[in-house]
Amino acid sequence: MTIIAPSILSANFSKLGEDVQSAEKAGGDWIHIDVMDGHFVPNLTFGPIVVESVRPYTKLPFDVHLMIEKPELYIPAFVKAGADRITVHAEACVHLHRVVHLIKEHGLPAGVAINPGTPLSAVEPVLDDLDLVLIMTVNPGFGGQSFIPQSVGRIRQLRTMLQERGLEHMNVQVDGGMNAETAKLVRDAGANVLVAGSYVYGAADRAAAVASLR
Ligand code: DX5
Ligand code: ZN
Repeated sequence: MTIIAPSILSANFSKLGEDVQSAEKAGGDWIHIDVMDGHFVPNLTFGPIVVESVRPYTKLPFDVHLMIEKPELYIPAFVKAGADRITVHAEACVHLHRVVHLIKEHGLPAGVAINPGTPLSAVEPVLDDLDLVLIMTVNPGFGGQSFIPQSVGRIRQLRTMLQERGLEHMNVQVDGGMNAETAKLVRDAGANVLVAGSYVYGAADRAAAVASLR
């Protein structure tokens, strides 16, 4: 079954609680939370206090995507704020293995993301410790960008790599440029967790948008 994770990056930040509830009502499975630091990516969003303040508005799991340098410094604060799972970027971690274990020591499933320009081999050494691999399908930093078509082959390659290692259970997440058409491409290639921001929040009928991604 495909998991749909609406990204609140495209929500109205002046009524974030309401917009989180709207994603739940529309049939979303996880709430995707994009944390950006203005260094790792050229944009700024929010930190743990915002996560904490929206936590009471939904029972859906908070899927926290850290697009920040030195994520190890902030992981404990995001756990405390109500994160249910945390994904860090391979490119942002000098000690990726240590960071993955830090997430797990807090009792959370760990994910590792890779940018479109990063080889899949960047996640290979830590695969056994992961619950999720995030293949970025745009260069991270902004919502509303176009899907990068080469991502399809990368998802297929990752699925083959997982099969070879007996890790078929791994969540393969994609993030960026999702709509009904690109969703079909990535699902067929083996992705099972789809993040969608502007496509869901920009839709007149958000429930129909979520349904069209499955
Ligand atoms: C991009 C973020 C995404 C973003 C996706 O840097 O990681 O989660 O919200 O936005 P859309 O779905 O609009 O491409
Ligand atoms: Zn994201």
